[in-house]
Amino acid sequence: MKVLIVGSGGREHAIAASAAKSSKVEKMYCAPGNAGIEEFAECVPIGAMEFEKLVAFAKEKSIDLCIVGMDDPLVGGLVDEMEAAGIRTFGPRKNAAILEGSKAFSKDLMKKYHIPTAAYENFTDPDAAIAYLETAKFPIVLKADGLALGKGVLICQNFEEAKEGVRTIMLDKKFGTAGNEMVIEEFMTGREVSVLSFVDGKTIKTMTSAQDHKRAGDGDTGLNTGGMGTFSPSPFYTKEVEEFCSEHIYQATVDAMAAEGREFKGVIFFGLMLTEEGPKVLEYNARFGDPEAQVVLPRMKNDLIEVVEACIDGTLDQVDLQFEDNAAVCVVLASEGYPVSYEKGFPIQGLEEFNKHEGYYCFHAGTKLQDGQIVTNGGRVLGVTAKGKDLKEARANAYAATEWVQFENKYMRHDIGKAIDEV
Ligand code: AMP
Ligand code: GLY
Repeated sequence: MKVLIVGSGGREHAIAASAAKSSKVEKMYCAPGNAGIEEFAECVPIGAMEFEKLVAFAKEKSIDLCIVGMDDPLVGGLVDEMEAAGIRTFGPRKNAAILEGSKAFSKDLMKKYHIPTAAYENFTDPDAAIAYLETAKFPIVLKADGLALGKGVLICQNFEEAKEGVRTIMLDKKFGTAGNEMVIEEFMTGREVSVLSFVDGKTIKTMTSAQDHKRAGDGDTGLNTGGMGTFSPSPFYTKEVEEFCSEHIYQATVDAMAAEGREFKGVIFFGLMLTEEGPKVLEYNARFGDPEAQVVLPRMKNDLIEVVEACIDGTLDQVDLQFEDNAAVCVVLASEGYPVSYEKGFPIQGLEEFNKHEGYYCFHAGTKLQDGQIVTNGGRVLGVTAKGKDLKEARANAYAATEWVQFENKYMRHDIGKAIDEV
């Protein structure tokens, strides 16, 4: 098969690495890809939102399977355009990707189908939002409705902060049109767990659990980022939690989407909060998590292409999804100053070490090839992943491997996976 992957981050690198193990794959392309993905796929300089060019490229190369990794093209309807051109494509169509594309939609869906989530109200009028906040309980959470690079969520401690937040989202349009509508929801406390799943429209099969670290600094301080590191599995995702979610959340979401005429095929990412009242949905994403994919996919035993095809064909019920009985930790190496401002273009040394060690991976997020040398090209630069027999060993291995890589401005958190010491 000729496979085209759409995206350019660590997630797409992890997808490419996993797909490359499939005997079904003859040739892989990635648009636009990055310097690390080149190892597995020919990268083509077409942006993920350049739908016409992507479709033309897929037709020209007779692509047998397109995998869309990123949220923007999914929400924008790339799957529909590819399918209209006769290209088999993995990912939700536009009318289903709205599960991630509109937080107001997903909240209303959960309410209508009794899927546990935080209490909320949706607003299109800033004055009405401010009036609501006058009598609200704090802290409270404001969310821009649309896609905002994971940054459209504001946790506000008091009325003044929240009023300012409404202004930022709805009037200043800090997140663009994503702020045309807004969700105001109850603040929840508890452990967060990410559960990714494969969905074929009817059947859902969950993957092994993971946990992300969203804040920039150690001890969960500093600004929210795209994710500074992950571990898998989460020891807090117990059998009991899994059973509750299977009964009240996973299949219920797939069935709700089908009942709404929005059949979902692809990956549903459940962002869960384990509250005292039980697990609740924080958010849905319509794709693999990043950097969750970097710890989940290396542990998957199945042939990724076979699973993806089962999702497209509606035969996922026949797939026995299996994960290795071990653990993985991913530590993101970022550019100092991320997520605010940072310099790029520094040469990266030591990447060859990863080819010499089994169970170690270096997924590229923001890198590019410049005059034959791989250089930093983004806030999040690399995701260093290592496996181990358990989480502690995986964490020690991952941190040891971060020392193999050198570049100017290298920044990382030192407490990825620290929570596992509490169990
Ligand atoms: P989201 O993009 O909706 O996952 O939100 C990003 C992050 O904000 C989550 O991972 C949580 O850490 C936090 N968050 C979102 N919603 C809530 C909530 N209702 N209560 C507490 N924290 C939240
Ligand atoms: N790691 C969170 C996300 O992919 O949105």
